[in-house]
Amino acid sequence: MLTERELESCYLGQFIPVHYHHNMLMDNRRMSGFKAAITHLVAPGAKVLELGGGTGVLSWFAAAQAEKVWCVEYNPDLVAEAKRFLAQNVNGERVEVIQGDAFEYLPPEPVDVVICEMIHVAMLREKQVQVIESFKQRYLEKFGGPLPLFIPEAMIMAVQPLQQDYCFEGYNAPIVQFQEPTFIQTGSVELAQPSVYSMLDFTQAVNPQIAWEGVFAIEHAGTVNALRFVTKNILAVNMQQSTTIDWLNHYLVLPLAEPVSVQAGDQLHVSLAYKAGGSIPSLQATMRAQHLHVVEAEWALQSKHLAVYA
Ligand SMILES: C[S@@+](CC[C@H](N)C(=O)[O-])C[C@H]1O[C@@H](n2cnc3c(N)ncnc32)[C@H](O)[C@@H]1O
Repeated sequence: MLTERELESCYLGQFIPVHYHHNMLMDNRRMSGFKAAITHLVAPGAKVLELGGGTGVLSWFAAAQAEKVWCVEYNPDLVAEAKRFLAQNVNGERVEVIQGDAFEYLPPEPVDVVICEMIHVAMLREKQVQVIESFKQRYLEKFGGPLPLFIPEAMIMAVQPLQQDYCFEGYNAPIVQFQEPTFIQTGSVELAQPSVYSMLDFTQAVNPQIAWEGVFAIEHAGTVNALRFVTKNILAVNMQQSTTIDWLNHYLVLPLAEPVSVQAGDQLHVSLAYKAGGSIPSLQATMRAQHLHVVEAEWALQSKHLAVYA
């Protein structure tokens, strides 16, 4: 049984309230990326399904070429808004808005393209991975193969050690923050290059469990007190031009429970584990950064203990 607090966090994480959708419509990098990918992948006369349609904007991009678009949205307030907006836009009648759960809905006939934007940086909170995996299984049972194309097709996720300024007018508050990738972040010192920790390819089965450990070559002296999470969505692959149409999410910067002082040339061991769709604190709770020699010493000690008990 979920507590009221858990229910609220589920609602805000998965079913974003209407007033937040204006920010999404205003996000030029997101909008232009999806528009380009949809224009590239939706052929004239195609059948398209959107899972989590929100205001209906991505379905409407698809309707410029598609014969029919099914747009599934759970939140009834957004269903009403999407219908109202589509009625005001040319080709809007090609989009059928359905109030339903993306975990259950299947279109009445096979589709060529599925659009799904339930994407949070680091694939936290929103249920993109679970929704797509559930869809693929149910779609294959109902229609057989092949599977439709997915927008986005894949995701690349990276992590970077930072020295982050958490001093606000003298008040120290190591707090979760989001950063606009195109802005210069004066409060962030990048102490090492980012490292890719996970790649999700929706043409393959995707495991929601993400676990990683790796070693960073520290480039500058400082204190690693935060990890920056970077998520690049490969919205579409343009095979003819050997290019991709991408969308970079806002960065997520999470403070480390135990900061580490480092010198240039040090090797920093970082580990993390979480489930896609999980909460931000569920990732934070597993984040560790330590000097590599400390980790090796701990391992040596553990192996010695194991040898004694063997
Ligand atoms: C990030 S928003 C994107 C909205 C829209 N596609 C856009 O790009 O502007 C994700 C949408 O998915 C909807 N959603 C989340 N989980 C859902 C589910 N299980 N079934 C249907 N809709 C869902 C949310 O209500 C929200 O409108």
